Amino acid sequence: MTDRSDMFSALLENVRLIVANDSGSSEKLQVICQMLTDGVQHYDWVGFYLTDQAGRNLVLGPFVGEPTDHVQIPFGRGICGQAAQRRETFLVQDVSKEANYLSCSPRVRSEIVVPVIRKGEVLGELDIDSHQLSPFAKEDSEFLERVAALVSRLF
Ligand code: SME
Repeated sequence: MTDRSDMFSALLENVRLIVANDSGSSEKLQVICQMLTDGVQHYDWVGFYLTDQAGRNLVLGPFVGEPTDHVQIPFGRGICGQAAQRRETFLVQDVSKEANYLSCSPRVRSEIVVPVIRKGEVLGELDIDSHQLSPFAKEDSEFLERVAALVSRLF
């Protein structure tokens, strides 16, 4: 096993413990954001967006990192909105090459967004920004998709 996959296995176990504990859902999501930011060097902003009642917009939920202006994002807009529309992980290793991108901070160089899906419905998503170029490997997507599956019951 690589170091990265050892690290992700340990973090995933912690996510399982957090999901199972007695606190409220948004508190759990907040703790998971903090753990991912602290635990993974190339994760600089970690947050959850929640799909609104109409199923057309993503609304910012718990996050850790710089405050963002993008508190509501329509499906289809930005990397977040495109991931929600496509219902699949959207990985951008260099945000300067993505035309449909909503910038939160000039320091962000790359981004990965993983939809949280239950019974075929996009309930929200997990969004990670990095200040590094091309920092994400296949292990990141696999790990974050497992995190998204574990937290889906909290949405
Ligand atoms: N960059 C995102 C907007 C959300 S922030 O990264 C927090 C996008 O293009 O959808």
